[in-house]
Amino acid sequence: MAQTAASLHWLNERTSRHAVRLIDRLQAEPQGERAALIAAILASPASVSPKYFYDAIGCTLFEAICCLPEYYPTRTERSILTEHRAEIVRVAGTNRQFVDLGAGDCAKASMLLPALQPRRYIAVDIAAPAIVPALSRLALAFPRVELVGVVTDFSAELDLADAIDAGPTTFFYPGSSIGNFDPVDALALLLRVRELCGEGSGLLIGVDTKKERSRLEAAYNDALGVTAAFNRNLLNHVNSIVDGDFDPSAFGHVAFYNEAQGRIEMHLEALSAQSVQIDGHERAFDAGERIHTENSYKYEPEEFADLLRRAGFSQISLWQDDARDFAVFHAK
Ligand SMILES: C[S@@+](CC[C@H](N)C(=O)[O-])C[C@H]1O[C@@H](n2cnc3c(N)ncnc32)[C@H](O)[C@@H]1O
Repeated sequence: MAQTAASLHWLNERTSRHAVRLIDRLQAEPQGERAALIAAILASPASVSPKYFYDAIGCTLFEAICCLPEYYPTRTERSILTEHRAEIVRVAGTNRQFVDLGAGDCAKASMLLPALQPRRYIAVDIAAPAIVPALSRLALAFPRVELVGVVTDFSAELDLADAIDAGPTTFFYPGSSIGNFDPVDALALLLRVRELCGEGSGLLIGVDTKKERSRLEAAYNDALGVTAAFNRNLLNHVNSIVDGDFDPSAFGHVAFYNEAQGRIEMHLEALSAQSVQIDGHERAFDAGERIHTENSYKYEPEEFADLLRRAGFSQISLWQDDARDFAVFHAK
């Protein structure tokens, strides 16, 4: 992806010893992105990448999902990071650059920053509406840490030029977001992170584990319908990008565990036969026809450790909760 569209903005110069620096790489190739999105919707079966969940409303809905009783991954990962914080800091080291991949509201990183004392914190996310306010909050809480935001789509390329230097770096990828990539693409992303890891660097990553179907499916089918709203809101975001007229209320939320693939799948199912306009094209949907919106792969800890080893990591530490519901790895 071309890097020439990078632009810098400065935020909150007066709140922090360092200004917050924002590097925006998202608009590098908007026409190509738009064309790929339209082609995926016109295809049969239709699909939309989960990266389109995260407009401003989607980011807020995801934060709400993290508070739901059914959604065990967030509270379990937080409890592991809290309980094992001292050992995590010992293994990862202090005074590093700390790169938060898919940082969102930066809440998990802010739990670790006081102990890790990074010299620079870099929030990387496709969603500026999530990281910009979060970095402003961090600037007040951590005035001595240099703060950088990189708005980018790292499913295309993880380009951190201008954001980090060659010094030791801890990469942080929480939330089991690695599960949104199929195992081949997950390996490619881990290889790229490994490539960026110089002397003294490592990866701290949270991964959801395989467990009984009922608990997995409940986590993506909450009683309040927040996950359903998050899923349907993707169609509002798509409308705004491709000049579409999807009616989100005409699609039902479907989420189930595909055990053979080891993944939760989310879909939007047409509640009746309907026709949708997308950028001048007409896309007819039969009643019951689905748009595939997300995969969330689950891993046995040993399966994921193997993926880390295949990406070139060798020293692997693992922390889990007592119920083994979630796994946090450090790898270098
Ligand atoms: C499941 S949320 C996790 C948020 C937070 N790290 C946590 O653990 O609670 C995934 C985050 O990754 C971001 N994201 C999703 N796809 C992305 C992509 N292709 N490139 C960059 N960021 C992406 C989203 O905007 C969102 O903030």
